[in-house]
Amino acid sequence: MDKIEIVGGKPLTGAINISGAKNAALPIMAASLLTNKRLTISNIPFLSDIESMIKLLQSLNVRIKRSGNSLSLISSKPNSLSASYDLVRKMRASFLILGPLIARYGKASVSLPGGCAIGTRPVNLHIEGLRQMGVNFEIENGYVSGKINGSLRGAEIKLEKVSVGATENLILAATLARGKTIIKNAAREPEISDLCNMLIKMGAEINGVGTKKIIIKGKKKLEGCTYKIMPDRIESGTFVLCVFGCTGTVLLKNLNMEVCNHLIKIFKKLKSLELKILKEGRNLLVKRLNDKKIFLSIKTKEYPGFPTDLQAQLTSALLKTKGKSEIEENIFENRFMHVSELIRMGAKLRQKGSKVIINGTDRLNGAEVMATDLRASSSLVIAGLMAHGKTIINRVYHLDRGYENIEKKLKQCGANINRLKK
Ligand code: UD1
Repeated sequence: MDKIEIVGGKPLTGAINISGAKNAALPIMAASLLTNKRLTISNIPFLSDIESMIKLLQSLNVRIKRSGNSLSLISSKPNSLSASYDLVRKMRASFLILGPLIARYGKASVSLPGGCAIGTRPVNLHIEGLRQMGVNFEIENGYVSGKINGSLRGAEIKLEKVSVGATENLILAATLARGKTIIKNAAREPEISDLCNMLIKMGAEINGVGTKKIIIKGKKKLEGCTYKIMPDRIESGTFVLCVFGCTGTVLLKNLNMEVCNHLIKIFKKLKSLELKILKEGRNLLVKRLNDKKIFLSIKTKEYPGFPTDLQAQLTSALLKTKGKSEIEENIFENRFMHVSELIRMGAKLRQKGSKVIINGTDRLNGAEVMATDLRASSSLVIAGLMAHGKTIINRVYHLDRGYENIEKKLKQCGANINRLKK
């Protein structure tokens, strides 16, 4: 298994090209199951989660060709409408094939998913929503099997809890259902809007994109299209926090207006800590100067609030600020596995229920640490960059699920970071 070695303590200066958004690319690739026409998708990031989705779709008879950072996908009827544990266990987003398969073929069987170990991550909302659209489910031996008599029908579905994945699965299914589907209390993440915009290009009729109430009028069939994936706001936010933690000046390139505005908004509170974020067209200039003593309190929330996917990285970035901060995690119940690793590096951290309390310290020390999930692994990279001496990060396969060329991008900004191949 590869490791990452970092010798910390340097400010970051340079420019970074932001990749396409993983969390938009995965549902958009699943949408290929809705049509037998060609989809050509560009700005695909090269990540192990994308590889997992490619393998899963290929097992379902989707022919996939890669050219540069584009993928062409053509889906023909598979021999088996089942996705095995081996293909699904690595990544929770695999469950997004359930809605499209049932919508197109009337049945599907998918293993219950794996993914990051950040608390129990049930799929009851996906299943309940599809049930309301006429699907009968059986759960047996770790597999969810759904079947409809006749065709999938539109329904009015109120999600009991805001869920990105359930909103996407139901939108995907509803594009081919008979009649109108209304999804209430839908998640509003921009990656869902990206999926909707592509489905609209495929001929789907969707209203209320980006709102809590999404209305889909089902079509008999969908067409092919070409589509460019939006920039990755979590990757961008991670680099903002690298600059915050290490000081320096970095230009983040290839963003869009919505991602720029979102990042400026969610990091507003860090302004009092001398973080400057300036929009320059589709780029963001990020600068961190000196430190001031403050108390900072941040809570994770669904979009447009502070993303849970940046909570671990924010924790690291705040480790050396003067004063005390606290971060409350409100989306996942067990997303603090980075805390014990950061303490091994000298961080003054305390977890109390769903909060982590950070007392700033002057010095972090490099150490050998273990990545436990995707975003926890990038929080260790940030801490390593901020620490005195050498840090070795183990289990970087977690990092490779969601960050394209992270060491190369940070190296370009002067970081001393290397991959140790095994
Ligand atoms: C997506 C993102 C992930 C992000 C998360 C929250 C992708 C590929 N992944 O994950 O990076 O951290 O949104 O922003 O886009 N829940 C239920 N029942 C369900 C589904 C979810 O109770 O059927 C709960 C979850 O346990 C969690 C909350 O709802 O507490 C939000 O989860 P959800 O938005 O569904 O996350 P994912 O779609 O898995």
